[in-house]
Amino acid sequence: MQIAIFHYTKKDEDFSHSMRVLRAKVREMGHDLRVIRKHDCQLDWTGKKTRFLYKNKPLGKVDVVIVRPGFNDNYDLEAGAIKHLQYCGYTVVNTHLPVIITKNKIRTLQYLDHHHIPIPRTIVAYSRDQIEKAVEKLGKFPVVIKKACGTQGKGVLYIPDAQTLTSVMDLLMDWHGNEYLIQEYIEEAKGKDLRIFVVGGKVIAAMERTAKPGEFRSNFHLGGSVAKVDLTPDEKTLALKAAKVIGIEIAGVDMLRTHEGPQIIEVNSNPGFEGIMQATGVDIPGAIIKYAVSKAKIAQAKKMSRQDLIRAKVSLLGSFAQPDVNLAFA
Ligand SMILES: Nc1ncnc2c1ncn2[C@@H]1O[C@H](COP(=O)(O)OP(=O)(O)O)[C@@H](O)[C@H]1O
Ligand SMILES: [Mg+2]
Repeated sequence: MQIAIFHYTKKDEDFSHSMRVLRAKVREMGHDLRVIRKHDCQLDWTGKKTRFLYKNKPLGKVDVVIVRPGFNDNYDLEAGAIKHLQYCGYTVVNTHLPVIITKNKIRTLQYLDHHHIPIPRTIVAYSRDQIEKAVEKLGKFPVVIKKACGTQGKGVLYIPDAQTLTSVMDLLMDWHGNEYLIQEYIEEAKGKDLRIFVVGGKVIAAMERTAKPGEFRSNFHLGGSVAKVDLTPDEKTLALKAAKVIGIEIAGVDMLRTHEGPQIIEVNSNPGFEGIMQATGVDIPGAIIKYAVSKAKIAQAKKMSRQDLIRAKVSLLGSFAQPDVNLAFA
């Protein structure tokens, strides 16, 4: 199969661990690989045809595109390109909408809460005044403040008291145009969370991450340690439900174990492989590629049957269109 990976880096040397193992696995499984870099994509509307140009030429045959979008705040380019691939008839995993939703924690929590999936108490704030009011509503310190589009723990702040809040707000309000999530701090999580890897409606691996000493964020990139974990049936069901309501096929679901039961804090559309492979030994890239290939096969089968249908209709019409000479003159 012709597999493409849509990526945000400008050159191979910038590939993350996940990207390197994914690329190696595509080749190991005997597929052809193309890397589509977002900076070389052009969306082209001719007025008659929607075209996806890559390095100024039509992209051509690709059976499936595995999307590994970037972490930057401005993801319009990625989102537009993914949608354009879909409009041009390419099979894509993950698709445009779930990528857009999960890039932003506000949108993600909105979907989850709307579908009755438990999340920590959270209030969105756009101004200093709103942040203060939100903390008042939560009723006690510590609280957690999160940037809507942060990742790898970088936009997540622990606020232990009113004094820290005041100085942090000075800084936050300098970052114009940002919105923040003010969230209750889940003390009982004790610096741990669950990362649940979902592929095509199935949980393929799960780990518990533990923050390093003196840290509350358990992200692997911040030095969190990882260990395989057995999920309870509830945790599994919740992770799958979260992926389902967002419509995401490949996801890293982050969950906290709280006194009220499991709560989801975010869903990642571009989850890293390193920590979870280390913790569980599961072949994550292999599972993703298998899923992408099966999606491509289904899409091809559908296209074929549509073409067969069209051919059948044409020949049927053809038989009607051919007048029977004798009858015509009868
Ligand atoms: N409300 C919370 N209470 C306690 N710990 C939290 C809370 N929210 C996040 N954390 C910790 O911070 C980490 C990063 O938060 P998360 O919302 O997943 O953002 P990111 O996108 O940066 O990973 C989590 O993995 C968890 O360990
Ligand atoms: Mg996270």
